Amino acid sequence: MKNYETLLIEKNNNIAVITINRPDKLNALSSTVHREGVEILDELKSDSEVRVLVIKGAGEKAFVAGADISEFADASPVQQRDIMNSRSLFTVLDTFPKPIIAMINGFCLGGGNELAMACDIRIASEKSRFGQPEINLGIIPGGGGTQRLTNLIGESKAMELILTGDMIDAPTAFNYGLVNYVYSAEELESKTMELAAKIAEKSPIALQMSKEAVKFASRSNLDEGLRREIDLFAICFSTEDKKEGVSAFLEKRKANFTGR
Ligand code: COA
Repeated sequence: MKNYETLLIEKNNNIAVITINRPDKLNALSSTVHREGVEILDELKSDSEVRVLVIKGAGEKAFVAGADISEFADASPVQQRDIMNSRSLFTVLDTFPKPIIAMINGFCLGGGNELAMACDIRIASEKSRFGQPEINLGIIPGGGGTQRLTNLIGESKAMELILTGDMIDAPTAFNYGLVNYVYSAEELESKTMELAAKIAEKSPIALQMSKEAVKFASRSNLDEGLRREIDLFAICFSTEDKKEGVSAFLEKRKANFTGR
């Protein structure tokens, strides 16, 4: 893969790890991070060697401390609207067909929290802190925060976080249901990679169908969601992976899924 200015990429054992690499700016999401992020995701989407993605921030201090505030200074409303309406990193993550785990090792704020919420699973270290501090800049979350945070933790808690701009610690984020696990800083990477490896062994097609079905739950009513689930379930019956999974169970052996 090509070299990126703001991102690092490593691929091993069907897992790609993307590092947002601006530690001196707490990995703030500049327009270059957005552009390169979309580019890298487009490439990884069709890379059959990659079954699971992990996204993390460089350095000890932050996952991502939000949008790059320095780029807000001179932006006009029309420019800003065009940027937000363009094919954004948040949307590309949200619609990415492979599972994505956000590994959160520090500040996870504003656009950083929105980025983490566009991923499928969030794993945090004890020292991470979460928040939507946009209100302190006289603006509101614009990367999906008002919607995804509300879906994840409920209107009342989301409202408080967005109206106050306050940060919450990792145990609170866990209690709210914002993150799946909290580990010590030392354990964070190994536990994240363990989970990524477990998921990477499954059928890539069944993973994709699972993601689509689960995500549909918050975007439709129950009847539509149940119908969509049946269609996606039926599609799985057309795959070699389904034959392999069922045969492996009956033959009492481990399945080897090929993604066909
Ligand atoms: N955009 C641009 N630069 C940022 C940034 C952001 N969102 N967050 C941090 N930085 C930069 C700082 O300007 C500083 O750069 P400098 O060394 O060139 O001055 C560097 O990252 C380190 O941050 P600093 O503020 O010195 O660290 P801290 O430990 O004192 O505070 C935070 C950490 C996260 C509390 C603080 O950086 C902060 O409030 N950041 C903004 C968070 C935010 O409002 N995000 C939502 C944006 S919509």
